Amino acid sequence: MECKYYLIETLGCQMNERDSETMAGMLEELGYGRAPDAAAEERAGDGRGAARHGADVIVVNTCSVRENADNRFFGLLGQLKHVKEADPDKIVAVCGCMTQQRRVVDEIRNKFPWVDIVFGAMNIEAFPSMLADALEKRRGISEGREPATPYAMSVDIRPERGEIVEGLPSRRRHAHKAFVNIMYGCDNFCTYCIVPYTRGRERSRTPDAILDEARALAADGVKEITLLGQNVNSYRAGGVGFPSLLRLVDDVPGVARIRFMTSHPKDLSDGLIDCYRTAQNLCPSIHLPVQSGSTDVLRRMNRGYSKESYLALTDKLRDAWSDIVITTDFIVGFPGETDADFDDTMDLIESVRFDAAFTFLYSPRAGTPAAEYGDRVADAVAHARFDRMVKRLNEITKEKNLAMLGGVYDVLIEGPSKTDKTMLTGRTPGGKLVNIRPPEGVGRGASRVGDIMAVRLTEAGTFSFIGEFA
Ligand code: SAH
Ligand code: SF4
Ligand code: F3S
Repeated sequence: MECKYYLIETLGCQMNERDSETMAGMLEELGYGRAPDAAAEERAGDGRGAARHGADVIVVNTCSVRENADNRFFGLLGQLKHVKEADPDKIVAVCGCMTQQRRVVDEIRNKFPWVDIVFGAMNIEAFPSMLADALEKRRGISEGREPATPYAMSVDIRPERGEIVEGLPSRRRHAHKAFVNIMYGCDNFCTYCIVPYTRGRERSRTPDAILDEARALAADGVKEITLLGQNVNSYRAGGVGFPSLLRLVDDVPGVARIRFMTSHPKDLSDGLIDCYRTAQNLCPSIHLPVQSGSTDVLRRMNRGYSKESYLALTDKLRDAWSDIVITTDFIVGFPGETDADFDDTMDLIESVRFDAAFTFLYSPRAGTPAAEYGDRVADAVAHARFDRMVKRLNEITKEKNLAMLGGVYDVLIEGPSKTDKTMLTGRTPGGKLVNIRPPEGVGRGASRVGDIMAVRLTEAGTFSFIGEFA
């Protein structure tokens, strides 16, 4: 039988990636194979891969957290018009956080009628039956049973969906590390953020479902699990809170490393910090998005903590594990951010000395409170702050990395490096990226993939290290 191919472009965060794995699993159950070279083409994120490789089903899993993700999506839909014109039997599906919003669905209907299937981030389980219907429709058209319309879009969006659907298939992207959802949605309503509107209310999976998944992953050779949620600290199912869940996962045999993300500073409890002392397999790293160092800006962001309380948290974390790797997110140019506010952020950066940080220019999102705030920061001012901040953050990252040189760290070997095929790549317990040139060459060194190896760090850059087996 002729093999049919799929290609999934994932434009969003780890949640989106995890959803894409589920959709890949659904497609493989239906007999589709991943398009050759899909990895490189999906990374390019411009839709051309789908055209070049002739994937039969093209899925675009969207993000709406910032405007540039929006723009990428609409650009991609434009490209896909040509794909669909060349072969109307190809199926184009779009889903994710953009399509949760009514105005976006209206725009797709009006401007991109060549899309076949639209569903949302809250009902990916609808995908297989929508795909079957779309294929049936195309067959009907080619056999003359249905009127020959070039386009026939079907839409199923569930704005209020609350229940969790278990037991969906998965095709995981990585052999030795995996994301496991522990909760969906977000109730925090930070004033800049679209996620509570696109992913709905917070809901937690049961510990049993999570543990079953962790055990199955361990049996498949997965060594590292990242527990995923928009705010893992508010995980609660029955009487089980996040620290207790972490301990349960810690006891799953075969899982050598546990990480979690994301952790909201306002809910980071002493109980969780204590896990860094007591849990066997919890990695010494935490992603703790601060967004701003100005208590006034944090209040207007509805973040629920102050500069001082954030600093107290990072102190406590370092008391629990002195060289814990702390990473963060910043938003620059939030409405009303003054020079003094920005100075507070720069001051916080000097106090905490983050190992790494993602910095974003504030992007107004329609429907969020901050999008209505006046006093926008001028673009030139925001960009100047952004550049100053990134420069200082990178300097600190490099200094921290240099301080690790010569040290020996356990590295989980993930596979050949994407940028240099003569090297293997992996991460330290703190999550720092290390490239290693195996003495026996990558081909033979591949036998170490999936192993945790002692590696000495010999060169330090800002974003990665070079190391050798110790
Ligand atoms: N739940 C996580 C992740 C949210 S989205 C958390 O609370 O940290 C990831 C990051 O995107 C956020 O931490 C924030 O820094 C950034 N972000 C979200 N909305 C944004 C916006 N409107 N403009 C710019 N950056 C934004
Ligand atoms: Fe968005 Fe705030 Fe929820 Fe994170 S905690 S997803 S930033 S609303
Ligand atoms: Fe993630 Fe983007 Fe949605 S960051 S939760 S895919 S808006």
